[in-house]
Amino acid sequence: MKNKAFFGCFAIALLFWACDQYPYEQGKILYTNFCENCHMADGTGLKGLIPPLAGADFLKNSPEGVPCIIRGGYKGEMTVNGVVYDTEMAGIAKLSDFEITNIINYVHTSWGNDFPIVHLKQVQEWLKPCENVIKPF
Ligand code: HEC
Repeated sequence: MKNKAFFGCFAIALLFWACDQYPYEQGKILYTNFCENCHMADGTGLKGLIPPLAGADFLKNSPEGVPCIIRGGYKGEMTVNGVVYDTEMAGIAKLSDFEITNIINYVHTSWGNDFPIVHLKQVQEWLKPCENVIKPF
């Protein structure tokens, strides 16, 4: 019995340690799979075609727009750090609300970014305006 408790505590301690070392590990994996192709591993994008995520004023100024861009895509002009982009981004409808939250938090805390952490509830609020446009599964 004592052993069980010991190993239970050990497992929990290990979990906390792991979470502390890699706070947005799922976000990082999803970023690699779904975003890196275009926005690049270091978040710098592609000059004139694909906007950066590293140091992007868009993330700071319009965080409420980001969940819908990830799920539903974006078409039309947008300005990021003073540069105008007009390349369509296709939405990735299969990502769950939770996965979108993790990706955003990975992006918000990577490459020198120091943008606020977002919570699932907040992201779900921000997803409401595009719910009718794109239905995830
Ligand atoms: C096929 C290429 C492509 C993929 C894949 C892609 N994006 Fe984009 N993304 C773009 C383009 C192009 C724009 C600019 C759209 C425009 O010019 O209208 C953009 C715009 C954005 C913006 C708003 C502008 C900025 O730079 O802050 C965010 C945020 C964003 N993408 C996040 C993501 C995330 C997160 C993923 C992965 C889940 C992702 N994108 C996957 C091409 C892509």
